[in-house]
Amino acid sequence: MKRILYLFQIILLLTNCTLKTAAEPTGLVTEKAMVVSAREEASKIGVEIMKNGGNAFDAMVATELSLAVAYPFAGNLGGGGFMVYRKHNGEVGSIDYREKAPLLAHRDMFLDSLNNVIPGMSTSGATASGVPGTVAGVISVHEKFGKLSLKEIMEPIIALARRGVIVTEKQANRLERNRNRFIEVNGEGTKFARPFKEGDTIKYPELATTLEIIMRKGKDGFYKGEVARKMALFIQENGGFISEEDLAKYEAKWRNPIVFDYKDLHIISMGPPSSGGMTINQIFKMMEPYDIKKLGHNSAKTIQLFTEAARRAYADRNYFLGDPDFVDIPYTMLLNEHYIEGRMADFSFDQATLSSDVGHDAVEVYESMETTHYSIVDSEGNAVSATTTLNGGYGSKLYIEELGFFMNNEMDDFSSKPGIPNMFGLIGTEANSIAPEKRMLSSMTPTIVEKNGKLYMVVGTPGGSTIITAVAQTILNVHEFNLSMQDAVNSPRFHHQWLPDVVVFEPDGFPADVIEELKSKEYNINEGRTRIIGKVDAIRVLENGTLEGGADKRGDDAAVGF
Ligand code: GLY
Repeated sequence: MKRILYLFQIILLLTNCTLKTAAEPTGLVTEKAMVVSAREEASKIGVEIMKNGGNAFDAMVATELSLAVAYPFAGNLGGGGFMVYRKHNGEVGSIDYREKAPLLAHRDMFLDSLNNVIPGMSTSGATASGVPGTVAGVISVHEKFGKLSLKEIMEPIIALARRGVIVTEKQANRLERNRNRFIEVNGEGTKFARPFKEGDTIKYPELATTLEIIMRKGKDGFYKGEVARKMALFIQENGGFISEEDLAKYEAKWRNPIVFDYKDLHIISMGPPSSGGMTINQIFKMMEPYDIKKLGHNSAKTIQLFTEAARRAYADRNYFLGDPDFVDIPYTMLLNEHYIEGRMADFSFDQATLSSDVGHDAVEVYESMETTHYSIVDSEGNAVSATTTLNGGYGSKLYIEELGFFMNNEMDDFSSKPGIPNMFGLIGTEANSIAPEKRMLSSMTPTIVEKNGKLYMVVGTPGGSTIITAVAQTILNVHEFNLSMQDAVNSPRFHHQWLPDVVVFEPDGFPADVIEELKSKEYNINEGRTRIIGKVDAIRVLENGTLEGGADKRGDDAAVGF
């Protein structure tokens, strides 16, 4: 009898596990299609394109270019990005439209005669810009997968640029914070020299004209002819290096994504020159042996496990990763299960590992927190996850008035000074050193998740080096801790990246006893008021096939669908 009861209990337990119901949605739910992006205008235009018969790839072109108009803080024509896709038939892929170093670039271009980094040269003004990739990226996507014409996709965006975009409170604050920098880089006459307040409308007639040329001529409209001539001339007149030849030679590249399993999930993410896919793969594999559900959401133990995995994965990231067309990346070693097991062999819940005890030379990485991400699912079940950036907010701040867009400061994502210790004794990594036509290492992590062979989540975020941890935590929030998509996105986040050896927590999100427990185990905690970590925009496919949006409450982000 006892045995029968025991068997019965086991069956009940197993049934409970398999029938565990997914969290009720708390974000926008729509039946067929959805776009989640940093601005409602961009999400709406993307959705309109799908309502008019376009697919997720047409919507990608529309959303990306709409963000260039509505969100010039990070949306761009003068920057670059990455996109990961999963078609309704399960086929996956990715495209790299990352900026690259100009032909005139060289390893020591940001060093003075004493081998010191020249302050500001890789972050501000024309010298900081890499050759932009966004237009090549969207045109390549359109050529390969688009259903609608460029005219159908771009006309609403050009109309938006002419009609203008209403300034939100957050945008007004950002413009004000950067106003002096705009003037320093562009002079008093620049469009953004005047103060803007919430509710103002900013029109972009010059950008509308540039977009019209791209609509008519495709990629050549941007990389050759009048736009390319004006862009190269303007950049060179301002001391920068990008030439017409650089622009004419730029190509977006289709690349194999990083694909791996985590428990019963199948994860598809961006490979090098983004570090996102590799690093998230390592973090998840280091965490996989643990019963994370049981450790608890944002508990001290979960934070410890995640931090220790991130510590080891970021050490590898910073040392080994760079542009795969220039650097031999030891993929097999880094993703090998024995290597990963060995990496965690000295992990203990009793005490923090010191970053100085985790291999490789010291490479401290600072990356800008800006950038923007959007997630798309269409009515056929095609999914697009795309992250795009100018690097810093408004990039290098160099605004090409005549063409209506900001240029990136992506050259700062290279190691300016590989191999030479700086004043803190830190050295940059050779793998990410500067070379002509090389792409700088990124952290952008556009990601798609499958469960039971079906589309489950589309996710990504801005946030520089915090992108990887924010995406990983969002996936864990849904999968391990059974939060809805919206709650998973809103949930407080923490970050660790090997160096500096500190764990950063979002303000007000973590109880004092959790922080105290971590301190007692010798974790260095960032006690000051920190910034937000990422602005995740994501979509979850519910069991009945409907879509739940997660639009980050930290920004003006919006989910729109039908
Ligand atoms: N510029 C931010 C990144 O590429 O990760």
